[in-house]
Amino acid sequence: MIIAAFESSCDDTGVAVLDDERVLSNILASQTDIHARFGGVVPELAARSHLESISFLLDRSLEEADCKIDQVDVFAATVGPGLVGSLLVGLSFAKGLTLASRKRFVGVNHLLGHLHAVFLAFPQIQYPFIVLLVSGGHSEILLMKSWSNFSRIGRTRDDAAGESFDKIARMLGLSYPGGPELEKLASSGQASISFPRPLSDKTILDFSFSGLKTSVLYYMRDNPHEKKEDIAASFQSVIIDSLVEKTFLAAKLCEVSTVVIVGGVASNAALRERARACAIEKRMELFFPPAEYCTDNAAMIGRAALEMARRGAYSDLSENAVPFLGLV
Ligand code: KG4
Ligand code: ZN
Repeated sequence: MIIAAFESSCDDTGVAVLDDERVLSNILASQTDIHARFGGVVPELAARSHLESISFLLDRSLEEADCKIDQVDVFAATVGPGLVGSLLVGLSFAKGLTLASRKRFVGVNHLLGHLHAVFLAFPQIQYPFIVLLVSGGHSEILLMKSWSNFSRIGRTRDDAAGESFDKIARMLGLSYPGGPELEKLASSGQASISFPRPLSDKTILDFSFSGLKTSVLYYMRDNPHEKKEDIAASFQSVIIDSLVEKTFLAAKLCEVSTVVIVGGVASNAALRERARACAIEKRMELFFPPAEYCTDNAAMIGRAALEMARRGAYSDLSENAVPFLGLV
């Protein structure tokens, strides 16, 4: 089954072509330069930029995949969550192609896409497993019992993990997007400042990062000469400890021995290292998607669409964008 997938939920335009599980091409047009001078994503500019590049990206993606448009069996696009103007570009484009070619269409939940990113590299993962999904808008722990049977057992009570990275990066004067920049800065610092550990109670599976953000803010105000590298390293260490401890606690409480970590923040090398050490200590299996499949991309949307198509879960062309779509 050939799938052409589109991801346009936020600020990067992704187009991928898959032949069943195999990714034939996975192209991403970054909008970083457009939004950087505003310090964050400007929704209207994001939507316009998607519109300008999507057709060209499809041509390139098909060319790289050595595939003709009439060979595509299924068109897939993200339906939500995300910025409505951005979502509508990929969604309308995919639906238009479906209508013109009389093929099938699958609308994909972006969060389900993040979950399926791990299967692109590790198709052998067995259910049940625990997933930590950490992106710019979400921080959730899920118990996955099967493809369609999953429950949320932990979530953030305020900021998402990626959002915290972005906000602290901004406070440190780093450029957008903040997460990778903060990681870079932290790599040359020492985690020498003891910021408070949020919700450290061993029975709570929820996260809370806004208090940590305030502590960093006050610390910077009261210690203007502190090395920014050390502030970044100290903040990163607390947030990573919280993410890793809660996730492995969830695995223990649910009596599950496999842990999966996905989403943009999962590309953070310090998080990966800390989680690996924890998995070895607790004798659990741990999987991350390769870094390029952690941050937003269309291959993960195609992979989730493949699962849906295999189960006959095609979507109607009346399917609309859902900006606040959840997973459960
Ligand atoms: O999954 P994603 O690409 O988009 C959303 O669905 O939100 O995640 C983007 C988030 C941003 O907040 C970004 O700063 C964060 O992931 N991020 C990182 C790293 N790379 C991306 N955070 C920490 N360390 C990184 N290396
Ligand atoms: Zn995402």
